[in-house]
Formats: sequence, C-alpha cells, structure tokens
Amino acid sequence: MNVAFVGLGVMGAPIAAHLQRGGHAVTVYNRTPAKAQRWVREYGGHAVATPRDAAQGADAVFICVGNDDDLRAVVLGHEGALAGMSPGALLVDHTTTSAAVAREVGAVAAEGVVGFVDAPASGGLAGSELGQRSIMSGVSDADVERARAYFGAYARAVVHQGPVGTGQLSQMVNQICSAGVLAGLAEGLDFAVRAGLDPERVVAAIGKGAAQSWQLDNRWRTMVDARFDFGFAVDWMRTDLALASATADEIGASLPITEEVEERYAEVTAMGGGRWDTSSLIALLQRG
Ligand SMILES: NC(=O)c1ccc[n+]([C@@H]2O[C@H](COP(=O)([O-])OP(=O)(O)OC[C@H]3O[C@@H](n4cnc5c(N)ncnc54)[C@H](OP(=O)(O)O)[C@@H]3O)[C@@H](O)[C@H]2O)c1
Repeated sequence: MNVAFVGLGVMGAPIAAHLQRGGHAVTVYNRTPAKAQRWVREYGGHAVATPRDAAQGADAVFICVGNDDDLRAVVLGHEGALAGMSPGALLVDHTTTSAAVAREVGAVAAEGVVGFVDAPASGGLAGSELGQRSIMSGVSDADVERARAYFGAYARAVVHQGPVGTGQLSQMVNQICSAGVLAGLAEGLDFAVRAGLDPERVVAAIGKGAAQSWQLDNRWRTMVDARFDFGFAVDWMRTDLALASATADEIGASLPITEEVEERYAEVTAMGGGRWDTSSLIALLQRG
C-alpha cells in the first residue's frame, strides 16, 4: 500500500520503519526536515515538504505528533493531511490526544469520506522498535479490520475499544495506571538503595512476585543509575495526565494519586527534566 507518515519523533520513526519494512511504500513528512532526510537515508522511501504532499495518493496516512494542537496543525487546513487525502483512504492517529479532538478530526475526515482511527499506543520506545506496541483503537466498525491490517506490522496487541474517541479514553486509563506504578517504583527503589540492599537482587525477587510490572522490568536499572535521557518524555506525560484530570472532572471520577504524581512531574520539569523519561520521578528522591 502507499502509506504516508507524519511525525518522525521517538515513537513515530520506528513505527514508520516497520511499515516500510513490512512492504508498504512510505512517504514521510517531519516538521524538522533533517529528521525526515535522516529517516529516508536509513530506511528508503521519500520525504516531502508538507503533510498534504505526503497524503496525496496514500491509502493510509499515519500521524504521530505531540498533542491536540499539533494534531490539528498537521491534519487540518490547506497544508494539512486531509487536504491531500482521497475519498476511501484511512487516517490513523497514534498521537495521544483528548477524546474531543479525536471526535473533531474524525468528523472532518468523515466529510471527505475518509475513515479515522484514534490509535494511541503503549509499550515505550522498545515496544516501537521491536514492533511490540499495544494499541487501543477507537474506530467505526466499518474500518476496524482495515486498520488492523496495518497495525500487524508493529503491534503485538490491537484491541478495538469502540467508536472514535474510545482509544484516547483507554490511553488515559493506561497513563493513570502508569503514573501510580512509577511513583511506587521510584519510592521502592530509592528505599532499597538507602537500605543498603543490592537492587539487582531485590528486583530479581520482587519482579517474579506481585510487584512485577512493565516499568519494573524495563526501567529499574536506569532508575537506579539515574539515567533518564531517553524514552517517553515527562512533558508528554504531563499533557496526558492533564487530559485525564480534565476528563475525570467531566465524568465525575476522582484521581487523587494521579494529581499528586502530576505535581511531582511538574517538579521534574522544573529541574530541567521535561524531556527525560517518565521513570525520572525517582530523581526527586535521589537529590535529597
Ligand atoms: N515515546 C513514547 O514512548 C510514547 C508512548 C506512548 C505514547 N506516546 C505519544 O506519542 C506521541 C509522540 O511521542 P514522541 O515520544 O514520539 O514525541 P517526540 O519525540 O517529541 O516527537 C514528536 C513529533 O511530532 C512532531 N511535531 C510536534 N508538534 C508538531 C507540529 N505542531 N507540527 C508538525 N509536527 C509536529 C515533531 O516534529 P519535530 O521533529 O519538528 O519536533 C516530532 O516529529 C505523543 O502524543 C506521546 O504522548 C509516546
């Protein structure tokens, strides 16, 4: 298939590479052109100057940018992807956004007879690189299988949640759960080090018990070593938790722990860690 990919960041670049390796002809657009050129040198395909150019002639257009405003910027308007898409094509968004903007973009896409899928993902950079992301998709029943055919190139789990917007609501659940896990993990590992325990031995034991988690398995060592210059950025997590808090207000849910963790991430940003991996919560404990 002819595929366009918009947004070659930490997450977008490896997913686009899986699509190219999976046999699709991939045209890329990135706001900072140097990243697009680097991607083409490494994987093939070709780079163009606007999302609209990328989308022309594409069977499916994939987006992976930062937040609601970024999604609008690359999808809507004269240079946006929708302006270049043909009726019958599919627009897939891997950005984590509000459910409201997913519904808004889905409605504009439908006017041009373009299918829309909100498809946020979990699994970190390693999940993207290994083709093992877990995708929560919100899409009309008519487009479920069409979207799934592409996701096979880079996801180990694709679970259809319901109509457009439900993928993003599910991602909020994922981030609420991750925030609590990371806060507990930060405290536990800092406690282990201060107690004079060998963290490797502690993790070897508790990682086979009830405290096991993806974060424990994939982040304990870098947390203990205070290495955070990679992965899922704190500032994106703060955006996600703010979306979850706003949605909680709308639906009458209560998120006391999540809101506390959100404040702690603001402190990490104030330390200069806005681009650090979300496991950097432990840095607040390590400095004292
Ligand atoms: N990284 C992860 O592990 C992970 C996990 C789950 C979900 N996510 C979500 O996936 C999305 C992308 O994350 P990421 O880690 O890949 O972020 P990232 O590394 O910061 O990349 C963001 C990408 O979006 C582009 N972009 C941002 N604003 C734009 C705009 N207004 N117009 C055009 N392009 C724009 C950036 O272009 P430039 O190169 O020009 O800056 C870059 O290509 C976020 O919504 C994040 O919450 C990420």
